Amino acid sequence: MLLIRYLWLLLCYAQYARGNLIDFYEELNNEFLYPQEKTEELPIELEPDRESGCLCRASENIRIIVCFGNYGCKKFPKVTLHSEILKVRTTVMEEIVRGDLDNLSHLQVLEIEANHQLKYIEPGVFRNLTNLRQLSISYNTLLHTINDKIFEGLVNLHNLTLVNNGFHNIMQLTPAFHTSLLPSLRALDISENIFESIPEDAFHPLRGTNLMKLDLCLCRLDFIHKNSFLPLRNLKELRIGENDLNSTMISNFLVKMKDDGINLIHLDLSGMGFRKQPPRNLMNIIATTTIRRLILAKNQFEYICDDTFPRMVNIELLDLRKVLVINIGPQAFNPHKFPNLKVLLLSGNNLPGMHKTPLSDQLLLLDLSDNKGSPTNPLYYDIDRDTFLQSKELKILNLSFNRIKAIFDYTFIGLENLQILRLENGTLYHIGDGSFKPLKRLQMLNLANNPLEANKNLTSTMFEGLNELKILILQNCGIKRFYDDDNIFEMMPNLTHLILRNNQMYYITAEILKPLKLLQVLDLSENLLISWWKPLFLASGVKPIKLYLTNNKISHFSMSMIYDISYLLENRGNQTVEINFMDNIFICDCSSMYQTHRWLQTNGTALLRQFFYKSNFQCSSPDVWEDKRVADYLSSIKTLHCLMYEKITNVMVLVWTAPSIVTIGLVIIIVTITYKYRMYIRYWLFLAKIAFGRNFKKTAPKPETKSYKYDAFVSYCNDDREFVMDMINQLESQPPYLKLCVYERDFEIGSFISESVMNSINESKYVILIISNSFAKSQWCRWETQLAEYHRIFLEDGTSYDPLVLIRVGEVQSKYLTTTLKYLLKTKIYHLWDESNQEEFWTRLRNILKKKV
Ligand SMILES: *[C@@H]1O[C@H](CO)[C@@H](O)[C@H](O)[C@H]1NC(C)=O
Ligand SMILES: *[C@@H]1O[C@H](CO)[C@@H](O)[C@H](O)[C@H]1NC(C)=O
Ligand SMILES: *[C@@H]1O[C@H](CO)[C@@H](O)[C@H](O)[C@H]1NC(C)=O
Ligand SMILES: *[C@@H]1O[C@H](CO)[C@@H](O)[C@H](O)[C@H]1NC(C)=O
Ligand SMILES: *[C@@H]1O[C@H](CO)[C@@H](O)[C@H](O)[C@H]1NC(C)=O
Ligand SMILES: *[C@@H]1O[C@H](CO)[C@@H](O)[C@H](O)[C@H]1NC(C)=O
Ligand SMILES: *[C@@H]1O[C@H](CO)[C@@H](O)[C@H](O)[C@H]1NC(C)=O
Ligand SMILES: *[C@@H]1O[C@H](CO)[C@@H](O)[C@H](O)[C@H]1NC(C)=O
Ligand SMILES: *[C@@H]1O[C@H](CO)[C@@H](O)[C@H](O)[C@H]1NC(C)=O
Ligand SMILES: *[C@@H]1O[C@H](CO)[C@@H](O)[C@H](O)[C@H]1NC(C)=O
Repeated sequence: MLLIRYLWLLLCYAQYARGNLIDFYEELNNEFLYPQEKTEELPIELEPDRESGCLCRASENIRIIVCFGNYGCKKFPKVTLHSEILKVRTTVMEEIVRGDLDNLSHLQVLEIEANHQLKYIEPGVFRNLTNLRQLSISYNTLLHTINDKIFEGLVNLHNLTLVNNGFHNIMQLTPAFHTSLLPSLRALDISENIFESIPEDAFHPLRGTNLMKLDLCLCRLDFIHKNSFLPLRNLKELRIGENDLNSTMISNFLVKMKDDGINLIHLDLSGMGFRKQPPRNLMNIIATTTIRRLILAKNQFEYICDDTFPRMVNIELLDLRKVLVINIGPQAFNPHKFPNLKVLLLSGNNLPGMHKTPLSDQLLLLDLSDNKGSPTNPLYYDIDRDTFLQSKELKILNLSFNRIKAIFDYTFIGLENLQILRLENGTLYHIGDGSFKPLKRLQMLNLANNPLEANKNLTSTMFEGLNELKILILQNCGIKRFYDDDNIFEMMPNLTHLILRNNQMYYITAEILKPLKLLQVLDLSENLLISWWKPLFLASGVKPIKLYLTNNKISHFSMSMIYDISYLLENRGNQTVEINFMDNIFICDCSSMYQTHRWLQTNGTALLRQFFYKSNFQCSSPDVWEDKRVADYLSSIKTLHCLMYEKITNVMVLVWTAPSIVTIGLVIIIVTITYKYRMYIRYWLFLAKIAFGRNFKKTAPKPETKSYKYDAFVSYCNDDREFVMDMINQLESQPPYLKLCVYERDFEIGSFISESVMNSINESKYVILIISNSFAKSQWCRWETQLAEYHRIFLEDGTSYDPLVLIRVGEVQSKYLTTTLKYLLKTKIYHLWDESNQEEFWTRLRNILKKKV
């Protein structure tokens, strides 16, 4: 859709204006780069409407209201808020009756879609919607008919969409579109209804209409009477794609329309089943009409020869996407044949490249993307030397999704007015020096998803000549770093957008950014960047409005980073600055955050404080702060606690500077360490104890005779309690009636290595670990795993007895796994909890646990 809109704009533009091209493309470029979010955000939940049972949500500004409600929503919802747009979707209402919409006279757009029980709409329901401009009643599969008077009142309706309902007969539909009822109708879309044929008088009720667009795609049409469109005297765009109409029939009504003075501009004949060649007769007729945009996509023309098309003077846009073409004759689109061709779309074909194909000199846009064959039968795209020598007017060249391997300094010669070059998702790994030099006017270069750095560093000579480049996209190109002594950005001082997302950079320097004085958007997301220690933006004087640093490895805010953020935020007038740090690995403890906090409190500006305290990025460690907002940590820093920390640090500094009190320092260090690691020390002591016990036991009676109090000790995480309850039930209350030792887990970290836990483990024949995501995440459980593992090592005595039984519940994300857990999962057989095969799982587990040692 975007493309069509884009082309349309382009054509309008090319026709009416010449001067302000740059502004125009800039706007387009931005639209391409950051397309407006299509998904509606509907954060506001409206009061539930008791009577209808529907749920409604609204956008922030109440411009859009969407109502839905699957099984609860049985009547048309009552909406009291005044919105511009109302969408009623996926309800189970069976009818809409008069009065339901009377209070909605303010509406401009109404969509009633995918209500799969809707059978009836009472005439007169729309009587009060005099402001409505767009109405869609679509995807309501049980709606088979509508009344002739249904649209009464819609005097301003511009755009009517009735796609994919259960309509079968166009004759029953069209009386409802009578010009006296819908005097303002301009666009009518009745695609995806099974009409099969369009009789002569189908559109008679629309006599006198100003309708300009008619869509009848995918209607299983095999007949259209040659006179049927004649009442639509202002029709400009006709879409009848994806039907089964033969060329004679199309020719017949086109001739009639032309003779009647109906001047079509746009004709869509896509997916019509034409094979081998565009039907010559039909092309001859089209050549005599006013049609400027001809869509022949999704037909099947393997060879387009020099004489496939007649001379077509009016054609400006020719869409030959996905027509399976493998070869194009050198003169097929020559300027003599298509003197006005501006846009040629050849994407999704099987063309092996550009080999001496003189294209219309005045082409503005050439789309050759996605000619890459199939995975089993790949095509390597190749561009001959001098291919574009004549293409002086070309503004947009799309070579994306091709298997182009290399470009050279001669590849683009001739494209002196090219503004947009798309090479994304190719296999480009060689950019010859000076490849872009002929592209003096290039404004946007998209090289995303190419293995550019596979075997060569990017150098500035490759990018020579891109003085006017505004947008450079180097997303996912395997870039590891840029080199200060060969700065590629020195070539592109006018860059406003630089996209370096999804590379492998650890850092970027101020020196690299320095030439980019006009930069507005810098996207460094999905790299490996760490916190930086020298100011970047402050030092380089680069001041983007949008800075994306999401999903990197930034752990804390150095002073340099704070100065940078401050620099980016201050003095921006009415511009809103966006700096995004989401999905990093912030450590929320005193050593990482206290300084930031102190500085913000004493020296931070209001803006800076607001940035930090309103931010949404999250801590990743320690466990207590995991997935909580850094902002929350900052505002709840326990000042006292961190002060102590700071003092200790100061003492450490003293130790280094004053050797005379080294001993005192050492004592303090030892005390601190002992305190900090007290748990480990206690733990080691226990291990030693067990080891002793073990040695003692080794000399004692044979292992077989050892009797255990429990069959198994179960180690699990609170989140998996339900599973454990189930397990207890399965193992303890059914033969062989095993005995489990299951701990209530509510005690705190400090107390868990209690003698009793150790004893319980010692008195259990097996130790069962329930390994799940939450288990791996929880520090507590990590400890216990380690404990169990050491326990096992101490017990190892050459027999096959292995007390550890691992049960994996669900997927465990590897980022949470400790080394021990990883090791265990790799080396040991674990039992996967299989919800669909529970009986077998429990039987297996019982068999293991009842094995005699
Ligand atoms: C329309 O508004 C009136 C007065 O606000 C109210 O009494 C009536 O129930 C409303 N009708 C519908 C269908 O919402
Ligand atoms: C139609 O809408 C107007 C407001 O534009 C309102 O005053 C009037 O009551 C509505 N008519 C009916 C029948 O509800
Ligand atoms: C007509 O409405 C549909 C959705 O209902 C929209 O997609 C389309 O852009 C509209 N067309 C015009 C010309 O406004
Ligand atoms: C096209 O279809 C019409 C009606 O089905 C038929 O009479 C005619 O022979 C067909 N023409 C061709 C070329 O197949
Ligand atoms: C370029 O080609 C790609 C892939 O076919 C397509 O998605 C994109 O819209 C095209 N862009 C332009 C400007 O033609
Ligand atoms: C382009 O390539 C990237 C990376 O290989 C891939 O993730 C993406 O899906 C591709 N785009 C399309 C539209 O296939
Ligand atoms: C890229 O540059 C670095 C530093 O100049 C060098 O060590 C490395 O070998 C280069 N890599 C390639 C593939 O040329
Ligand atoms: C690009 O930058 C140069 C200065 O380096 C300037 O003279 C020129 O006008 C700029 N071009 C555009 C299109 O902004
Ligand atoms: C921002 O301020 C500038 C002048 O400082 C003004 O030209 C521009 O219209 C303002 N933009 C908005 C969105 O208010
Ligand atoms: C705040 O700024 C003053 C003067 O620049 C400086 O002396 C002081 O150390 C700063 N405070 C913090 C907490 O950094």
